[in-house]
Amino acid sequence: MKALAATADPMLVEFVDLAEPTPAADEALVKVEAFSVNRGEIFALTGVYGTPAASGRVMGQDIVGRVRAVAADGSGPAMGTRVVAHPEGGGWAELVAVPTSKLAVVPDAVATITAAALPLAGLTALRLLRRVDELSGTRILLTGASGGVGHYLVELAAAAGASVTAVSASRDRGLRLAELGAAAVVRDVAEAVGVFDVVLESVGGTVFSAALTRLRPGGKVLWFGQASLEPITLDFFRLFSATPFTLEHFPHWVSTTTDGEDLRALVDSVAADTLHPEIGRIEDWAETRTVLTDLNNRLIRGNAVLTIEMK
Ligand SMILES: NC(=O)c1ccc[n+]([C@@H]2O[C@H](COP(=O)([O-])OP(=O)(O)OC[C@H]3O[C@@H](n4cnc5c(N)ncnc54)[C@H](OP(=O)(O)O)[C@@H]3O)[C@@H](O)[C@H]2O)c1
Repeated sequence: MKALAATADPMLVEFVDLAEPTPAADEALVKVEAFSVNRGEIFALTGVYGTPAASGRVMGQDIVGRVRAVAADGSGPAMGTRVVAHPEGGGWAELVAVPTSKLAVVPDAVATITAAALPLAGLTALRLLRRVDELSGTRILLTGASGGVGHYLVELAAAAGASVTAVSASRDRGLRLAELGAAAVVRDVAEAVGVFDVVLESVGGTVFSAALTRLRPGGKVLWFGQASLEPITLDFFRLFSATPFTLEHFPHWVSTTTDGEDLRALVDSVAADTLHPEIGRIEDWAETRTVLTDLNNRLIRGNAVLTIEMK
């Protein structure tokens, strides 16, 4: 089968021929039709988490395709069923083995490309908002809002009654956020009006510090990323006189629900016309390298989806 693998040159991916995966007993074999790419995969390719991805490693956590072989333990959907899944890597390939607990059936009403935009960004947004005690009437400041996660956060939080101020450096990439329910879209934290009960922060560096000054006494910061790659600085003495606040670290994979359960909730919301993935780029998977570069350079609004020609 064909797959896109990391090379010795970070950010470059190239087609390789690999043996078909051998699924474990609880895994279905899925023939991939589309996948999306994420900033986290750029981090893995370029070594932000440690060393750059080894040559030959196949990444990819967001796929949609059809079940080619049913899991041997009988779990999961029947042969030919269209599914959306969140495998732990290996998704930039024609075939992927996925635990059946990490996939959900895609309803007919949902297009393959739309479903492909859901997994990592959608799961992150859904689970992040569960960490907010009460959404209705809550004032939220969201940084890094124009990416895949940000669009889902805005729509889900606004639908639950939160008032979201979204920060995007680019007017164009911020446009859709207002349509999805943001109460305000600003270019910089300094432009945000008022104080906030909750800050959702994923940019890091000075953006984190600026957002912290806008938190109400006793408010909560949910810290879920560092897109700028700039570490944050917390000076205890500068905060000494402030009312205590809560800072929570958020990794999306810590959840009491399975990926399959949450993917089902997401895809059902799309089918019910209450969740609208923002897909800023759709390309053939031969263009993955270019799309990753554009994502890295903050040129894509929402998610980017790559399609694999169906044979
Ligand atoms: N904790 C978790 O489990 C988890 C899971 C998934 C994602 N994440 C993190 O969540 C964040 C959003 O993910 P995503 O997939 O939505 O990413 P994305 O599509 O790349 O969006 C990142 C956003 O950050 C903003 N940004 C501001 N300053 C930046 C800078 N110096 N460099 C790059 N981007 C900058 C960009 O908005 P503007 O350019 O419009 O300002 C961009 O829209 C990322 O930091 C990602 O690593 C965390």
